[in-house]
Amino acid sequence: MDPKRDTRKPSNLHRVIKFYEEHAKDYDKDYEEDNWRLYDDLTWHFMAPYIPAVDPAVAGTRGAPVALDAGGGTGKWSIKLAKLGFRVTCTDISRQMLDQARAKAAVEGLEGRIDFRLLDARDMPGIASESCDLVLAVGDLVSYALDDDLVVGELFRVCKPGCHCIASVDNTFSYLILQLKSERWELIDDLLDNKVTDYSSPHPVRTYLPADLGALFERHGFAVEQVAGKPVITNTVSKRVRRLKLEQHYEELLELEKRFGADPAFVGHGGHLQIAARKPA
Ligand SMILES: C[S@@+](CC[C@H](N)C(=O)[O-])C[C@H]1O[C@@H](n2cnc3c(N)ncnc32)[C@H](O)[C@@H]1O
Repeated sequence: MDPKRDTRKPSNLHRVIKFYEEHAKDYDKDYEEDNWRLYDDLTWHFMAPYIPAVDPAVAGTRGAPVALDAGGGTGKWSIKLAKLGFRVTCTDISRQMLDQARAKAAVEGLEGRIDFRLLDARDMPGIASESCDLVLAVGDLVSYALDDDLVVGELFRVCKPGCHCIASVDNTFSYLILQLKSERWELIDDLLDNKVTDYSSPHPVRTYLPADLGALFERHGFAVEQVAGKPVITNTVSKRVRRLKLEQHYEELLELEKRFGADPAFVGHGGHLQIAARKPA
């Protein structure tokens, strides 16, 4: 086996799997809360311009464009893409998350459009090279896998030339601020040197500054088209104030986040970072 593709090396994946095994049933409930609803609205806002249009004549058929939703979890984005007419492959390392996704797709009558596969994104042998018109890895898959080169290498391999990959990760800067607020000075050097932390996370995560994220995708051959912060304004205030303000002014705050999220002056403040990258034609 090519050592670069050796996924047997020690990783944190057993901790990721355990966490989602325990939380799969409640996962979607968290996103009903305003803070996470805002996060989802921004994920969609910054992703939508890169989603190819589906010709209504082929929507949902074998001739429809193909999307890969890697680390697709409970199928939130897979279902949205299936409704747009894509044929979707939703992969995840967690059987329990995929079970939730499958059940939701069945309720929507979309089982026929989504293929669910238990697969580690670091090595996806069942997904053919250059077979996907859109590749998603949103919701921190790249951060959780730690072996980010393996994952992004796979995302690049399966993406068709000229098509886009959208991925989101944890931001080093937002962990730095969390650690400063709680005066965990002893953790800061390690965060900045290694970019990996398990502070306030159930398993270690790899964090990125916008330039690190761009460099990761570029070294695998992608051209970076956008890096956005999600969110860049509401995460600068305390949780209590944020909850209150979102309760009172959700739509106004969402508009501000959309306006400033991809502005280079603010991106680095993002709670998370989302990249849109294109595989050259
Ligand atoms: C925060 S959830 C995001 C789920 C979904 N993409 C969303 O945005 O709602 C992260 C998902 O990544 C999955 N995951 C983590 N590491 C993975 C890996 N190496 N391969 C496949 N899935 C992985 C987890 O099991 C979990 O379902």
